[in-house]
Amino acid sequence: MIKPHGGKLINRIVSEEEKKILKEKIFILKSIKLNRRQISDIEMIAIGGFSPLEGFMGKEDYLNVLYNMRLANGLVWPIPITLSVDKNVANRFEIGEDIALLDEFGTVIAILHLEEIYPYNKELEAEKVYKTKDLNHPGAKVVFSQGDFLLSGKISVIEKPKHTEFSEYYLTPEETRRIFTEKGWKTIVGFQTRNPIHRAHEYIQKCALEIFDGLFLHPIVGETKSDDIPADIRMKCYEVLIEKYYPKDRVILAINPAYMRYAGPREAIFHAIVRKNYGCTHFIVGRDHAGVGNYYGSYDAQRIFLEFKPEELDIVPLFFEHTFYCKKCGNMASYKTCPHGQEDRITLSGTKVRQMLQDEEIPPLEFTRPEIAKILIEGMKRKFREYNI
Ligand code: ADX
Repeated sequence: MIKPHGGKLINRIVSEEEKKILKEKIFILKSIKLNRRQISDIEMIAIGGFSPLEGFMGKEDYLNVLYNMRLANGLVWPIPITLSVDKNVANRFEIGEDIALLDEFGTVIAILHLEEIYPYNKELEAEKVYKTKDLNHPGAKVVFSQGDFLLSGKISVIEKPKHTEFSEYYLTPEETRRIFTEKGWKTIVGFQTRNPIHRAHEYIQKCALEIFDGLFLHPIVGETKSDDIPADIRMKCYEVLIEKYYPKDRVILAINPAYMRYAGPREAIFHAIVRKNYGCTHFIVGRDHAGVGNYYGSYDAQRIFLEFKPEELDIVPLFFEHTFYCKKCGNMASYKTCPHGQEDRITLSGTKVRQMLQDEEIPPLEFTRPEIAKILIEGMKRKFREYNI
């Protein structure tokens, strides 16, 4: 079994005994109300998805991540994991104190053992992580909307965030590692996704399944941008597709409670590290992985892996070229395998597909399976009703 990043799977969920002790003193602690993204980070730290992180980053780690894509100890880590607050909130705290972290209902979900309070440069973070200061970039926008100070320190999690939706697909890294071992899988391919499954996804997943023991489908169900398809619809698509077209005993579907950053290349490395923590040995990186708009080149998220020694990451990236259906080949293909011209290839942009679905038009079979198109059309109708778009 592949080792977690940094060598040890982190578990920051307190024992029942510690819980009792902490619950007694919670009422005297100062508190902070968290947003959904912060809660998602807490959950990922708590269950070991972000191993070796045990809490929110201090200044030295933070700056090393921005400048070198490494923690202060040299371990590869491309994305800052921080807890921001406004100045007036930061002023209430003293280094060394415990702070209660609350969810939106006011329930204490974790304690932050405060180690540092530090200001940071949002422009620098946006430039380094997202390669842009443009507020149209969803990741950069989040940075500029955050509080001006960062709090760092280890966390002790009292209540793991509850997942009422998709609870049957909730697996921690410890659980997936156990399942992979029980199944006798030696090689496991992780697949990150935030979009509804289409034929290109299916093709690259099945190419990998031809070679490796198991496929770990790990769609993001944390926050995504508002024009992405909601997670429940995407999960339904996966259920239907696995039922009809996948060898069920070779596939594990589980939700990833993290949220999307849209950091393109840096996020590809991050996604790979997280899947390594879940026990994957290989990780698919296709075209424009975790990209948005035109901020990154189509294959930047593959090239960035060359900046690290293979043993530093350990998990092996599997690079796929842009794949499509070719009418002359009569099957799915990529530039690597298809000699025909663009006119023979069926490719549709995300915007075009969204428009077709909105107009209740089924996209070509070669792009999306009809079962999926039906779910998406229904889903889009619901989304427009709910969001009044
Ligand atoms: S992502 O933001 O999670 O990367 P998406 O869910 O669309 O978006 O992609 C999941 C994975 O499939 C990524 O590795 C992406 O690069 C890859 N991918 C998506 N579409 C294609 C395609 N047509 N050809 C090759 N790879 C693709």
